[in-house]
Amino acid sequence: MESHLEWHSARALLEWQVELGVTEAISDMPVNRYAAAAEAVAAAASGAALPHPNVAEDPVDTARKAAGAAQDLPALRAALESYGLCDLQKGARNLVFADGNTPARVMLIGEAPGREEDLQGKPFVGKAGKLLDQMLSAIGLGRERGGDSAVYITNVVPWRPPQNRDPSPAEIAMMLPFLQRHVALVKPDLLILMGNVSCQACLGKRGITRLRGQWTQAFGLPALPMVHPAYLLRTPIAKRAAWADLLNLQAKLKA
Ligand code: URA
Repeated sequence: MESHLEWHSARALLEWQVELGVTEAISDMPVNRYAAAAEAVAAAASGAALPHPNVAEDPVDTARKAAGAAQDLPALRAALESYGLCDLQKGARNLVFADGNTPARVMLIGEAPGREEDLQGKPFVGKAGKLLDQMLSAIGLGRERGGDSAVYITNVVPWRPPQNRDPSPAEIAMMLPFLQRHVALVKPDLLILMGNVSCQACLGKRGITRLRGQWTQAFGLPALPMVHPAYLLRTPIAKRAAWADLLNLQAKLKA
C-alpha cells in the first residue's frame, strides 16, 4: 500500500515539474557521455553481453492465454489484476472491471475510465455516466435493473490513461483478448459501442459520426455504434441523433 502511495506522490511531483517546463533529468554528479559511449562500443567489439530489454513476453499473446483460461467473470477480473504488462495499470488507483447485472441482453462497451471511475473502481460514474443512465432509463433499461431490462457495462481498457488521453493502439491490442473473453462470458444478445475508441477496438475503424446508428457485427454479435455521452455533454445538438439511436436499440430488442 505504502509503495503504491509513494508511486503516486513521485508521479505527481514529476508531472508538476513537466508542467513547469522541465525537459531533462540532471543529477548532481557529472556524467562523461563520451566515455560511456566508448565503453559500450568496446564491449560490443569484444562480444561482451550488453544489457537488453526483456523481449521474452509478447503482451498480446500473454493476454490471450490469460483471458482464455478465465472460466467466469471473477476469474477474468483476477486475470486482469495479475496481467502486469500494461503500463496503464501502474498509474491507476483501481481496476475498473464492469458494472451491471448478468444475464443482460445488452452489453455496453465504453472507452476508458476517467477520474471518477478510477477513484470508485466502477465504469461511467462521472457526469457522462449520469447522462448515460438517463439515456438508458428513457428506453426502460439500466445497469441496476435485471431481466430483459439489464445492461452490463464495461470499457475497452480497465485502467485510467494519464490525463484521460485515448488508449494507444498497443494498449488496445493487449486489452482486446480480455474484452473478447468478457463478451463471451456475459453472452449478451447485442452490443453498444460507445464512441470512437470502442469502434476502433471492436470494429477496427473510427469515425463515430458516420458509424453511429448503423447496426454492424462485433465479436459475432449485432453491434450498434453510438456517440459517447461525454460528446453529448459538449455538443447537445447531437442528442437528437442519440435519441434516434436509442429508439433503434429499443426496436431491435423488441423485434
Ligand atoms: N467514459 C468511458 O468511456 N468510460 C467510462 O467508464 C467513463 C467515461
